[in-house]
Amino acid sequence: MTIIVTGGAGFIGSNFIYYQLREHPQDRIICLDSLTYAGNLSTLEPIMKERNFRFEKIDITDRKAVHQIFEEEEPQVVVNFAAESHVDRSIEDPEVFLRTNVLGTAVLMDACRKFGIKRYHQVSTDEVYGDLPLDRPDLFFTEETPIHTSSPYSASKASADLLVQAYHRTYDLPVTISRCSNNYGPYHFPEKLIPLMIANALQDKPLPVYGTGENVRDWLYVEDHCKAIDLIIREGTVGEIYNVGGHNEMANIDIVKLICKELGKPESLITYVTDRKGHDMRYAIDPTKIHNELGWLPQTKFEDGIKKTVQWYLEHRTWWETIISGEYQNYYEKMYGNR
Ligand code: NAD
Ligand code: DAU
Repeated sequence: MTIIVTGGAGFIGSNFIYYQLREHPQDRIICLDSLTYAGNLSTLEPIMKERNFRFEKIDITDRKAVHQIFEEEEPQVVVNFAAESHVDRSIEDPEVFLRTNVLGTAVLMDACRKFGIKRYHQVSTDEVYGDLPLDRPDLFFTEETPIHTSSPYSASKASADLLVQAYHRTYDLPVTISRCSNNYGPYHFPEKLIPLMIANALQDKPLPVYGTGENVRDWLYVEDHCKAIDLIIREGTVGEIYNVGGHNEMANIDIVKLICKELGKPESLITYVTDRKGHDMRYAIDPTKIHNELGWLPQTKFEDGIKKTVQWYLEHRTWWETIISGEYQNYYEKMYGNR
C-alpha cells in the first residue's frame, strides 16, 4: 500500500511516519510537507534514504504539485496532518490558517477524487467542540457534541471537517476523521506548553503560565495517537468520526510543576502572564466509540510518558536548541516580551 502523509516533518506527522515504517515495513510512505517554521527536515533525516520512503517539499494548497505526485505515486491512502497548528499564532494572524487548513484540505480531497483513493483521513482536533466548564467534570466530548469553536485555529479545523463530510456525502469520497486531544512526546515544537516549559526550565528561564493556570487539557502520548490513526485507516468505517483521548485531564499549572520536579528546577521560575484571548477552559474526550469499535486503548500512562518526553529533550538538545536559536526568537519576543 502507498500512503501519502502530509505534514510529516511536523510533530505528530513525523511520529506517525516512524510508527508506520516500523509497524508496516511493506508499505510505502510519501511525505508531502512545505517546511513552514514548524516543519523540520532533520527529524526525518534517519529515514531519508529508505527505499520505502520519499519526501517532497510541497505545499498542500499547490494543486498542480499535489496532482503531479498523485499521478506519479498512485496512492491508496492519504493522511492529512498538514496544518497551521498553534492557537496563539492563529490569534495573531488567522489568514494562513484558512489557506492551509481549509483550502489545503479541499485541494487534497480534489486530488483524491480525481485519482481515486481507498481512504482520505483527516487529522482533526477536539478543539472543534469548543470547551467544557471546570465545574462539570461529568461532561465529555463525544462524536455527537455540536461543533462550537473558539479560536481562528479551531474554526479553521472545524471548517475543514465540514468540508470532509460534504465531500463524503456529495461525491462519495471514502473519508474518516479523527478528533484527538492534546498530544505530547518527541519532536514537539517548543512553542507548545510541554516542550516550551521543558526548554525554558533547562535554560533557567521564566515559565510563562497563562491566566490562573487552571485550564485543563486531556494529554495523550503521541504514539497512542499514531496507533489510533493507523487502526482507523485500516479498520475504521468510512464516513465516521472517531474521538481519540486517554482520560488524562490535568491543569496547566500541575503540568508545569511536574516538569520542574522532573528536571529538579525551582517552582519560583513559574511566572503568571496575561491570559490567551478566548482561552478554552477544559477539554475532555470520551473515547468509548474507538474503544468499542476498534479496540483502541492508550498504552502509555502519563507518569511514564512525561518521563520519556523529558528524557528525550535532555538527549536531543541540538534538535530544539537549533529551533529556538533561529527565527523562533523573534516569535518568542513578540508573544512573551511584554506579556
Ligand atoms: P505541527 O505544527 O508540529 O506540524 C505541522 C506540519 O505541517 C509542519 O511540518 C509544517 O511544515 C506542515 N505544513 C504546514 N502548512 C503546510 C502546507 N500548506 N503544506 C504542506 N505542509 C504544511 O503540527 P502537529 O502538532 O504535528 O499537528 C498535526 C495535525 O494534528 C494538525 O492537523 C493538528 O491540527 C492536529 N492535531 C494536533 C494535536 C496536538 O496536540 N499537537 C492534537 C490534535 C490534532
Ligand atoms: O487539543 C488539541 C490541540 O492541542 C491541538 O489541536 C493544537 O494543535 C495543539 O496546539 C493543542 O492546543 P492547545 O492550545 O491546547 O496547546 P498549547 O500547548 O498551545 O497550550 C496548552 C495549554 O497551556 C493552554 O491552556 C494554553 C497554556 N499555555 C500555553 C503556552 C504555549 C500556557 O499557559 N503558557 C504557554 O506558554
